[in-house]
Amino acid sequence: MGINGKTRVCAIIGDPVEHSLSPAMHNAAFRKLGLNLVYLAFKVTKNELKDAISGARSLGLRGLNVTMPHKNAVIKYLDEIGSEAKAIGAVNTILNDQGKLVGYNTDGKGAMIALQENHISTDEKKMLLLGAGGAAKAIAFQAEQDVEELVIVNRTIETAEQLAELLWKKFGKKVKGKTLSAGVLKEEMETTDILVNATSVGMYPDINKSPVPSDLLHSDLCVMDIIYNPLETKLVKDAKAVGAKVVSGLEMLLYQGAIAFEIWTNCSAPVDVMKKAALSKLAEQGDID
Ligand code: ATR
Repeated sequence: MGINGKTRVCAIIGDPVEHSLSPAMHNAAFRKLGLNLVYLAFKVTKNELKDAISGARSLGLRGLNVTMPHKNAVIKYLDEIGSEAKAIGAVNTILNDQGKLVGYNTDGKGAMIALQENHISTDEKKMLLLGAGGAAKAIAFQAEQDVEELVIVNRTIETAEQLAELLWKKFGKKVKGKTLSAGVLKEEMETTDILVNATSVGMYPDINKSPVPSDLLHSDLCVMDIIYNPLETKLVKDAKAVGAKVVSGLEMLLYQGAIAFEIWTNCSAPVDVMKKAALSKLAEQGDID
């Protein structure tokens, strides 16, 4: 569908945004479904965030994705926040519902759908989550509702403990916060079913690093890395080599995007089309600097 007077705009705001895969993913989906929408990327600095949201309101943008560094700060400019986003304290998707800006967080659900779509059940499983930053928090909130046991390990122990406490208070289920160390990993990995890396260890340009020594990986394990640059991190390669099931970071990106798409359009997201578009954009960009 060509751009005309009725075309509505969706966009990602953040800093940096120029390498985002979301424009390719969403525009391919809009085209596939013949929707009169376009998706753009706007670089918005911290100082410009308030004006950007006010501009989105005035211009009647249909929806926004919000990325670093605005996921927390954007909340104060919105009219309503979904319960999950409120609990996490971070918004990655905004719907303009007839002038009312509603904030959601689709990261955690995106991660859980990525597991499900790869036939990885979380029921009665132990998940070891590496990291306690924004992405880890979103995943932890969602995972805690499904898994039997959740252990959060982080370089900074305080944030792991704070997150564990928050989850314990909210869900009243077993959850521990520990330090990311060789000793803790050795102890926890033996009984772990699902390992999720939500740290930035292994991300380009440090592609030869992994947060987990390869000798701790085993074939009964499911490993999901939320890093998608590179598409196959060292952790994912090591996990594959021992026969573990793996889920790449592109899958979480894809499903968080698919949920956002459905929030904006009320249509089922064409995930295959979105995945193909994201993969070809990644290939075109090569290593992202
Ligand atoms: P995101 O929004 O992508 O989650 P973030 O909130 O900055 O980003 O979180 C980054 C995560 O990677 C944190 O858990 C961070 O650990 P700290 O809380 O100790 O900072 C983790 N991380 C980053 N670099 C790391 C490294 N070299 N070793 C271990 N963990 C690291």
